[in-house]
Amino acid sequence: MTRNPLLPEQAVIRKTKHQTYDTITFTLSFLNGRQAEYRFQPGQYNMVSVFGVGEAAVSISSEPGRSDSFDHTVRIVGNVTRALRRLEEGDVVGVRGPYGTGWPMEKAIGKDVLVVAGGMGLAPLRPAIAHILENRTEYGKLEILYGDWASQSRCTLLTTVDMVPEDERWDGHVGVVTTLYKHMRTKPNNSIVLMCGPQIMMRFGIIGLTRGGFSPEQIYVSLERRMKCGVGICGHCQVGPVHVCKDGPVFQYESLRHLPVLAL
Ligand SMILES: Cc1cc2nc3c(=O)[nH]c(=O)nc-3n(C[C@H](O)[C@H](O)[C@H](O)COP(=O)(O)OP(=O)(O)OC[C@H]3O[C@@H](n4cnc5c(N)ncnc54)[C@H](O)[C@@H]3O)c2cc1C
Ligand code: FES
Repeated sequence: MTRNPLLPEQAVIRKTKHQTYDTITFTLSFLNGRQAEYRFQPGQYNMVSVFGVGEAAVSISSEPGRSDSFDHTVRIVGNVTRALRRLEEGDVVGVRGPYGTGWPMEKAIGKDVLVVAGGMGLAPLRPAIAHILENRTEYGKLEILYGDWASQSRCTLLTTVDMVPEDERWDGHVGVVTTLYKHMRTKPNNSIVLMCGPQIMMRFGIIGLTRGGFSPEQIYVSLERRMKCGVGICGHCQVGPVHVCKDGPVFQYESLRHLPVLAL
């Protein structure tokens, strides 16, 4: 059956998990029998709709090997995400996808992988990390620069917080994620970088990496733009000749260098 890419399909909320005061993970399954054949690449996203409210692009944050459900981790920022927060287990949402390009998991085979994530940027990177951990022997060293990732013996984790509130205790690094570069072990030789986070973090993240000897071909970034159709028709997400919704959201940095995104 040919699927209409603009038509949402019904998915039921199986579980909700409050990660922080403004971030919730929703576990969903399709209702129409599609779940069994639903597959996605780490880094891809769905268009998630709350009926009568609207749609938003949301990365798939679950491990790609799971077949009975998939996760979306959502920060509550506006109309659609506020409406999502009001939903409960058993409620139904619309889902179109998966859309867009994924992280270069094939190209990364045999290489060390450096993951640089800031804020919600961890959501699209989580399936890539899970994939590497599930196929550990195919990849070299895995190093993650971020906060809040559960302790894992099969990778190196460096965490930092931007600042420490007066009433909180924190014994780790303080500063933006790029302050961790001086502590990281990954070397440019035979490695690949997967990066996602706020635009400003990615700009300075790339500057730091290229100064450290990483080439634009080694660095992959996931971009965020306001999306409507998700399939390259409406032009909402266009940057020069590029439609972020279908040519991305994951790009090799080399291909973006001359476009007005992440301009350095
Ligand atoms: C590929 C991709 C993957 C994403 N993955 C995730 C994810 O995993 N988790 C997640 O939480 N989010 C993710 N997002 C971001 C999410 O799609 C947006 O935050 C979306 O706007 C939320 O919808 P909303 O209706 O709740 O918020 P909106 O009502 O759209 O508001 C979102 C923010 O944008 C501002 N805004 C509203 N309208 C405009 C406008 N016309 N111009 C400029 N700014 C405006 C609002 O003030 C608010 O700060 C992703 C986006 C993309 C493109
Ligand atoms: S969102 Fe419509 S062209 Fe990209």
